[in-house]
Amino acid sequence: MDGEVMRTPLIAGNWKMHKTLTEARELVKGIREGIEGISGVEVLICPPFQHLLPMAGAIDGSPIMLGAQNAHYEPQGAFTGEVSVPMLKDAGCTHVILGHSERRQYFAEGGPLLAKKVRAAVAGGLNAIFCVGEILEEREAGRTQAVVERHISDVIRADVPAERLIIAYEPVWAIGTGRTATPGQAQEVQAFIRSMLASTYGQAMADAVRILYGGSVKPSNAADLLAQPDIDGALVGGACLVAADFAAIIKAAGIRAAASS
Ligand code: 13P
Repeated sequence: MDGEVMRTPLIAGNWKMHKTLTEARELVKGIREGIEGISGVEVLICPPFQHLLPMAGAIDGSPIMLGAQNAHYEPQGAFTGEVSVPMLKDAGCTHVILGHSERRQYFAEGGPLLAKKVRAAVAGGLNAIFCVGEILEEREAGRTQAVVERHISDVIRADVPAERLIIAYEPVWAIGTGRTATPGQAQEVQAFIRSMLASTYGQAMADAVRILYGGSVKPSNAADLLAQPDIDGALVGGACLVAADFAAIIKAAGIRAAASS
């Protein structure tokens, strides 16, 4: 931890385009059972749009929170196939993932669009989980910090309220590949991200922003990653689709939180 700053860890599951409704209900039931008795951790699931409403029901009475994987920047309008921030709020969402590398890669999302989306999300009362991270060629060329700096400076300005912002560092080469960044590699970038946030918001506000790590987080590596001072949680893909694995990662965060309190 930086000085006295305490950040509650957040473990977020990005379901991506997975699970039928029956499978989704099973998964949430398993997560609810698996996290009983764990405290000091915020838990978030981000199912596909289609499942948001039924999952809002499935998590009712549990500490699990609901998030979406994308949002449009307009509150309504002729945007076929899109979903707006007020609609997500209506469905029970508190969070939305924006700027995921798969959105950048397959749907050509970039800085100007993401700046609008992040502003719309936070103005509409959602917490934005804004994703940044380099591809392998960029890392190998020594450009990791430059890429992350551009991703952040394109979108995050002082008019984005820090209290509604969560950053997820997801090195693209570690997503779905089984190749995790080492705790040291992730920490180095995440400390850099915090220094950027400090220049935007001042140190006190930057110290309060959670910075998650994402990319092949599993029960076997979660504790080591979460032990890093600037890793405040995880954005989990593949492992969040298996209730026992997701619960094990949440448990690792709970142990970490208890140790530092
Ligand atoms: P994996 O955990 O499957 O590598 O996915 C990470 C991710 O993209 C989360 O948003």
